[in-house]
Amino acid sequence: MGHVHVLDHPLIQHKLTLIRDKNTGTKEFRALVQEVAMLMVYEITRDLPLKEVTVETPVGVASAKVIAGKTLAIVPVLRAGLGMVEGILNLIPGAKVGHIGLYRDPETLMPVEYYCKLPAHLEERDVYVVDPMLATGGSAVAALRAVKERGAQRPKLMCLVGVPEGIRAVQEHHPDVDIYLAAVDDHLNDHGYIVPGLGDAGDRLFGTK
Ligand code: URA
Repeated sequence: MGHVHVLDHPLIQHKLTLIRDKNTGTKEFRALVQEVAMLMVYEITRDLPLKEVTVETPVGVASAKVIAGKTLAIVPVLRAGLGMVEGILNLIPGAKVGHIGLYRDPETLMPVEYYCKLPAHLEERDVYVVDPMLATGGSAVAALRAVKERGAQRPKLMCLVGVPEGIRAVQEHHPDVDIYLAAVDDHLNDHGYIVPGLGDAGDRLFGTK
């Protein structure tokens, strides 16, 4: 069974509080989401494998380490997931970026994929599906299924805020997936918003309403 990791680094928690604040405007909100995504990925990648190399310094030769293996793949779920990508790329500029677009069928209420463009060789990469809000879990479950169908092995899910309902849905459909969150909130309201949450992440990122 995958694990649920709540990343409680003080900087992540401090910035998340600013993100939640309804008085935080679009520009600051966007910057903070990028910063939290960067800090989260810093924590999550703690166990990446390393390999030994030698490097010439100005005064000698050092045996040193670099990250081994294929570059990571980040897969934001459109549209709010886009708000986390630049922050991750600041730290891991070589990461490949895929995109998944989902809409909810008005009749079945199930997520339907309308766009999917993913990096090659997904089976050899560490794949991170990113979306700020883990609410019902419908889109996360569908996005994880989409990357697995295209080869991803044990992808990870990274969100800012989740609720128990969403976590349970992901665990039920993808028991192998580790979930990384900055906070687990109380519940979903009748409109599908996380309470207390931070509102509509996409609207707050892009200044729409
Ligand atoms: N999506 C959001 O943007 N906010 C929520 O609270 C739930 C889903």
